[in-house]
Amino acid sequence: METIHTVEWMKQVAREARGAGRIIGFVPTMGALHEGHLSLVRAAQERCNPVVVSIFVNPKQFGPKEDLEKYPRQFEADRAMLESLGVDYLFAPSVAEMYPPGFSTYVDVERISELHEGRSRLGHFRGVTTVVLKLLEIVGPRLAYFGRKDAQQARVVHKMAADLNLDAEIVICPMVREADRLAISSRNAYLKPEERRAATVLNRALRAAQSEIERGERDTMRLIAAMRRVLDDEPLASTDYAEVVDVESFETVTRLRRACFLLLAVFIGTTRLIDNLLVEETEEGFRFSL
Ligand code: PAJ
Repeated sequence: METIHTVEWMKQVAREARGAGRIIGFVPTMGALHEGHLSLVRAAQERCNPVVVSIFVNPKQFGPKEDLEKYPRQFEADRAMLESLGVDYLFAPSVAEMYPPGFSTYVDVERISELHEGRSRLGHFRGVTTVVLKLLEIVGPRLAYFGRKDAQQARVVHKMAADLNLDAEIVICPMVREADRLAISSRNAYLKPEERRAATVLNRALRAAQSEIERGERDTMRLIAAMRRVLDDEPLASTDYAEVVDVESFETVTRLRRACFLLLAVFIGTTRLIDNLLVEETEEGFRFSL
């Protein structure tokens, strides 16, 4: 695996690969790699060669009171992990390389970026779409892989790619969970042991709503109430939002329809965690993907 730190060299390597007719697969990350990230790498390796993974803790997607400073950084361990998976290129630019002095261009996907995660984390998606567009320009992949763990982010990026006629196909991969169904996240490392136990409340709340749907409930107010009952029972949890939304627009819906996400953002102590449940109507009834 070759580690690349500059934009120019990454562009050069990518240009050569494309010139040779190779299909570049790209997995953007902020490092502190875990099974969720690795599942994206494996998915990329199934269809692409070479596979490029980026590690860049993007300051522009963190709010002033968020965890940019303490975000976990473990570059050597990450590099070893990617090496052992057989990744071809690791792109790891510095902040100055990505945002030289005077940088002033931003990408905003209107409306969807203002909802839910966007409402709680002002400017977050603007930072995400700006860095992802830059990374897509630099790496020039045929396929770029994102996880359903960050369902709204994946949708925002997908919308940007469609609106701006980007060449990259945005591939959205399933969520990877711990044995007790906590969604794997780099931020789980912040949790103290008792908080780690409490964190399963997100998934328990989603499954409580699932049981209501299976019993025939379609009113989303009641589904949200079912989630909140579980969340309110956990003293270490404080709910930021609990919503039922359309899978494409992310607008809230009042009745369950063909394809929805149940979305949760919950503080466990000072750590903010998100989770979601995909609900799709099929001929045999509703199908649930945790
Ligand atoms: P990061 O949080 O490092 O996540 C990188 C990718 O891994 C994202 O697409 C995310 O959805 C996916 N991922 C994280 N946990 C996952 C899990 N448990 N199961 C499946 N996929 C998972 O998301 C970002 O970085 C940044 O916003 C980024 C897109 C890199 C832009 O800076």
